[in-house]
Amino acid sequence: MARRKKIYEGKAKILYEGPEPGTLVQYFKDDATAFNAEKRAVIEGKGVLNNRLSEFFMTGLGQIGIPTHFIRRLNMREQLIRQVEIIPLEIIVRNVAAGSMAKRLGIEEGTQLPRPIVEFSYKDDALGDPLVPEEYIIAFGWASQQDMDDIVSLALRVNDWMSGVMYGVGIKLVDFKIEVGRVWDNEFPRLLLADEISPDSCRLWDIETGQKLDKDVFRRDLGNLTDAYTEVAKRLGVMPSNV
Ligand code: C5P
Repeated sequence: MARRKKIYEGKAKILYEGPEPGTLVQYFKDDATAFNAEKRAVIEGKGVLNNRLSEFFMTGLGQIGIPTHFIRRLNMREQLIRQVEIIPLEIIVRNVAAGSMAKRLGIEEGTQLPRPIVEFSYKDDALGDPLVPEEYIIAFGWASQQDMDDIVSLALRVNDWMSGVMYGVGIKLVDFKIEVGRVWDNEFPRLLLADEISPDSCRLWDIETGQKLDKDVFRRDLGNLTDAYTEVAKRLGVMPSNV
């Protein structure tokens, strides 16, 4: 592989300079981390599965009119994406109480929420990505009020489409995290869905059995993570050939 300039290395992905200005190559690693990287492992094949699954979700969302950073998949581990200015928020949508919400509010995991709830964390590993109210986001200038209105509407559209697609293959979309970035097209700012959508960033439960098919398998030592992601890819009909 030709040497390329590394722009950024995160816990699960690397970003390289892309072939044209305004593009990047997003490389999916096999590394899994949890609890702000206190727990780590290398899970063989995870990067290949997430590259393919993120392609599937981003392409489908693009087809229903949601602007995304995804351009095309390049190979088993890499995809070409648009370079964006990432808004420093983790945007979380929840349909069912689980994880940090269940813990924080003392709600039993699995409790259906009265409606989808969108929440925001400030993206800062050193602070452990603290939950922040919209008031902070606007006051500190991380995003404008218009951005926040657009982000909530985008997040709920993503939730509607993703919930339907997963339901169709017998999986409940419990919650998920997205990131959004800004691009400038002819000097006009536009928000795009960025980062990845994969079982690393969603909670996915089998509707019949309740079996977890997401990163909680790793976080909570519930079994083999590759098997869980493979099950999701198989049901969606996007299983890569050589995992
Ligand atoms: O841990 P918590 O319950 O807040 O996570 C909510 C959802 O957001 C889960 O699907 C989790 O996988 C995802 N998430 C993520 N990256 C983070 C925090 C949460 O993808 N840093």
